[in-house]
Amino acid sequence: MSDTTEPRADSAPPEPLIRARGLRREYLGPRKEPFARRARMVALDDVDLDVTAGRALGIIGESGSGKSTLIRLLLALDRPTAGTVTIDGRAVDASAPARALHWLRRETGLVFQDPYASLDPRQSVGRIVSEPLRALGIENDHRARVAEVLTRVGLDPEMAGRYPHEFSGGQRQRVALARAIAHRPRILVGDEPMSALDVTVRAQILDLLRELSADGMTLVLVSHDIGVVQNLCDDVAVMTDGRIVEHGPTAQVLRHPAHEYTRRLLAAIPVIPGR
Ligand SMILES: Nc1ncnc2c1ncn2[C@@H]1O[C@H](COP(=O)(O)OP(=O)(O)O)[C@@H](O)[C@H]1O
Ligand SMILES: [Mg+2]
Repeated sequence: MSDTTEPRADSAPPEPLIRARGLRREYLGPRKEPFARRARMVALDDVDLDVTAGRALGIIGESGSGKSTLIRLLLALDRPTAGTVTIDGRAVDASAPARALHWLRRETGLVFQDPYASLDPRQSVGRIVSEPLRALGIENDHRARVAEVLTRVGLDPEMAGRYPHEFSGGQRQRVALARAIAHRPRILVGDEPMSALDVTVRAQILDLLRELSADGMTLVLVSHDIGVVQNLCDDVAVMTDGRIVEHGPTAQVLRHPAHEYTRRLLAAIPVIPGR
């Protein structure tokens, strides 16, 4: 130990791309009677999280455990009651005006659960997919980028002129994915992006996400489907009651869950270990 001459850089872990410290989000509950005090409820309770660049993190946990709240705070779509988020070492300030968050929007893409609710029905697919390019003032050939990214998600670039109602649920989710990656973000965040899709379509979207991950994109994926997490995610964080109770490499967490809650969660679902 005394004689080590190894350079420090070799052993120092890489700075995480996403870092959250002490994240807390309280909400006021409903007023039980007029003038009564509204009870405070804690949706997120002192959460620390590191995500290394290029890795895929799955977030699992029962409904109401705080998964969506955590994601909203990471992306400054909501303000924490306490705590901090940094992306690539830069502080995320959810109270900053939209312009001051351009850098964060540029770094991140987001896909929601419901491909029917998340696409504006009055806009053509081309318009929808190029929206982040316009919003972020990215001055490349938008038409060419739309064609490229539609192809990337397995859609015919000719479809740019069509409207969402002409598409199936799975195709819409591909459009949503195309929009999320159009501006080449380094981080793709999905809040149950496959839950609303049927099994075959789900598998196709899973393949796409796996390709993006293989290309080096950092993924943060909320899913209640352990199979998805097993297939796609390097790491998994398990949430219950607003806390992360377990976080580690997927194979390790699923094979040897350390926390009682994870064991119960896994016992409720058939799992084939062996990723
Ligand atoms: N805007 C809100 N106002 C009040 N309570 C909320 C709000 N958003 C979420 N909550 C509550 O916070 C808790 C965590 O919610 P959420 O993060 O959506 O959980 P999950 O995504 O894991 O299902 C839940 O109890 C939910 O009811
Ligand atoms: Mg949710």
